[in-house]
Amino acid sequence: TTVYVPCDSAAVAVGADAVARALEAVDGITVLRNGSRGALWLEPLVEVETDRGRIGYPAVSAPAVAELVAGGMLDGGDVGGCVGVVDELPWLAGQQRVSFARVGVIEPTSIAAYEAHGGYAGLRRALSMDPAAVVEEVVESGVRGRGGAGFPAGIKWRTVAGATADVKFVCCNADEGDSGTFADRMLMEGDPFTLIEGMTIAAHAVGATEGYVYIRSEYPAAVTTMRRAIEIAYAHGWLGERIQGSDTSFDLYIRVGAGAYICGEETSMLESLEGRRGEVRAKPPIPALHGLFGRPTVVNNVLTLGAVPMILAEGAAAYQARGVGRSRGTQVFQLAGNVRQGGIVELDFGVTLGELVEGYGGGTLTGRPVRAVQVGGPLGAYLPPEQFDLPMDYEAFVEAGAMVGHGGIVVFDDTVDMAGMARFAMEFCAAESCGKCTPCRIGSTRGVEVIDRIRAGVRREENLVLLEDLCTTMTKGSLCAMGGLTPMPVQSALAHFPEDFGLPPAVGEAAE
Ligand code: NAI
Ligand code: SF4
Repeated sequence: TTVYVPCDSAAVAVGADAVARALEAVDGITVLRNGSRGALWLEPLVEVETDRGRIGYPAVSAPAVAELVAGGMLDGGDVGGCVGVVDELPWLAGQQRVSFARVGVIEPTSIAAYEAHGGYAGLRRALSMDPAAVVEEVVESGVRGRGGAGFPAGIKWRTVAGATADVKFVCCNADEGDSGTFADRMLMEGDPFTLIEGMTIAAHAVGATEGYVYIRSEYPAAVTTMRRAIEIAYAHGWLGERIQGSDTSFDLYIRVGAGAYICGEETSMLESLEGRRGEVRAKPPIPALHGLFGRPTVVNNVLTLGAVPMILAEGAAAYQARGVGRSRGTQVFQLAGNVRQGGIVELDFGVTLGELVEGYGGGTLTGRPVRAVQVGGPLGAYLPPEQFDLPMDYEAFVEAGAMVGHGGIVVFDDTVDMAGMARFAMEFCAAESCGKCTPCRIGSTRGVEVIDRIRAGVRREENLVLLEDLCTTMTKGSLCAMGGLTPMPVQSALAHFPEDFGLPPAVGEAAE
């Protein structure tokens, strides 16, 4: 009997390795290690292959294995809270998995399994095409940067392709520092060849010969898996000289960050890759023209590059057909914080915030009412449930004074102190500021002090004016998004939850 036990860090953190060892000790079982399906509250989710499909057993512990086996688990029996056929779980079946289609299904470093599940179809097609046509295909797909800013990836590629230089680079930003985000990690741990394939397609399209994946040091398992997958790709002629006999050559390397949030900002990341302190560079020049070692460089997030193989395999129109407005394709949403069903939900853009939080997420873990959600990382806005009908769409979020960002959604119940959260935003900025510009370096520290005075009721009116003024200065005067976006969580907390700052409740909101 073939049994799958996830090797994803989230599953390992709750005992998956011990479960795998316990299963391996049982006669007649072949244990395969898959990635995670992303239903993190079910981990370790053990799956038994049967003729009905893969049957899931949630939250298995090593000591429980003997009893589950005795109870008929190997025949797909209804024991241990069995969830039935995993693919038919409504939570999973309702999703539109494109980038995550293989995650949790295959063994991450099996290139045979990867190809059997559609892997390398995109690169095969790309290699048969003129590079310029590949760029146009990505432009037409409408895919936008998944790191948060949402810049059209194809336009960026076109800029790099149009530049002339002795060497060009493709750099993948895997310094996933946003709180509540883990999709980059799960793709790298669960389906690393997708990223490698996406980067190779980018290299072919823009004429780059060298690539780097910049992974944060907090992701050691992702580093190991990516390194292993790169070795395998080389061994199978999918990386290196003249890939699959084509004229395209591409070498790919891993670099590990040292733990600075700001190295997720693209120019800091480039500084770090060049061996310097991670400090933001002024733009222009943009990295597309003057990037790594001063050469034209594609810098894309893991999920942007991870979407590319499907775009090339199925054509731009298939991707473009998904989504809403100018937000095309799917987004890999990440539900975290005080939520009953935390994990990965990949859906076409346009799903509402409420469907994600109350539907897929099942509300709070504590069972108390949701009071706020923060979307788009620590620099994203806090939104109240009154805004749950907001569609996940870059433009709709901007209009609401918020941002979709990297798709992380952190849930809070009614015990949250929003003034405390506003203070945390400033504190986080003070800790993570690279120090290059004054509004961010000094402003964040002053921000903590001003919020402390407001919370203590010291000259509240005066300090509220000062806080607004400080937020405007940081927004308008900061060199990068770190200082520039820190006011977003602060001002959204003030706008939607004024009572936490000792002010009267927001007009209209409580009544809605
Ligand atoms: P940006 O708007 O300055 O740039 C977006 C991208 O487009 C960059 O790669 C830039 O080089 C490129 N670009 C701009 N104009 C171009 C042109 N004419 N031709 C070619 N390329 C061009 O935004 P930035 O500062 O890179 O990112 C800010 C975002 O980062 C925020 O919105 C936030 O959501 C996100 N963020 C993500 C984090 C994460 O962990 N994923 C952490 C913190 C922030
Ligand atoms: Fe550095 Fe902050 Fe200025 Fe960005 S805004 S360049 S992180 S000091």
